[in-house]
Amino acid sequence: MIHFITHILLYTLSFFSEAQNQMFNNQNQITMTTQNNNTFQLPSLAYSYDALEPYIDARTMQIHYEKHHAAYTANLNAAVQNTPLAQQSIEQILASVSNHSAAVRNNGGGYYNHNLFWSILTPASLSQAKETYEIIKAIHTEYGSFDEFKTQFSQAAATRFGSGWAWLSVDSDGKLFVSSTPNQDSPIMDVVEKQGTPVLALDVWEHAYYLHYQNRRVDYVSAFFNVINWEYVNELYVNAQK
Ligand SMILES: [Fe+2]
Repeated sequence: MIHFITHILLYTLSFFSEAQNQMFNNQNQITMTTQNNNTFQLPSLAYSYDALEPYIDARTMQIHYEKHHAAYTANLNAAVQNTPLAQQSIEQILASVSNHSAAVRNNGGGYYNHNLFWSILTPASLSQAKETYEIIKAIHTEYGSFDEFKTQFSQAAATRFGSGWAWLSVDSDGKLFVSSTPNQDSPIMDVVEKQGTPVLALDVWEHAYYLHYQNRRVDYVSAFFNVINWEYVNELYVNAQK
């Protein structure tokens, strides 16, 4: 009888634990367009602040997310409030950003870019560039080897003067290209040299690395390759082909 009760108890506990995990996953999924009642929302992170250590430290993550990303979100909402832009998705706004104010360009870019950045990061234990992923196959086709792609991407990140981003994107022909943009500009904006759908993003603003790496941007760029969520990058790549 005691054995039976213990069995039931363990079964019930495992059920609740599973339900809790499910709830956690649902709450922490990042959607690229997080807009409720015409207000852009700061997306939840799918991992804790210290989950990317030692490559990206917890304090940097906390300040980056709670202060910088939160400020872009609040400023974007203030910039679009009571304008027709409040009805549009962030992707729509940025695709025609040449028609909008500097506040919309800077804060809309900051909002979108950071949403993407958090979603393409994952703890090192889960970061796997599997050869079976379409994105990895495409990288081999386009760059000859993964190392050659890494060199080109790292160079784009290292040589971006001042603040900005490095990108891997898909162009209108479905081909991959590496680029970098200043400030909070992004390949989905109609103001960049070459437009595309970004599938990988690296923030090279000093606020993204200075606490841990100080002036050593190259070390930060190299560390980034340990915490890329290739599964999600692959998903973005496959969607961009449709
Ligand atoms: Fe940032």
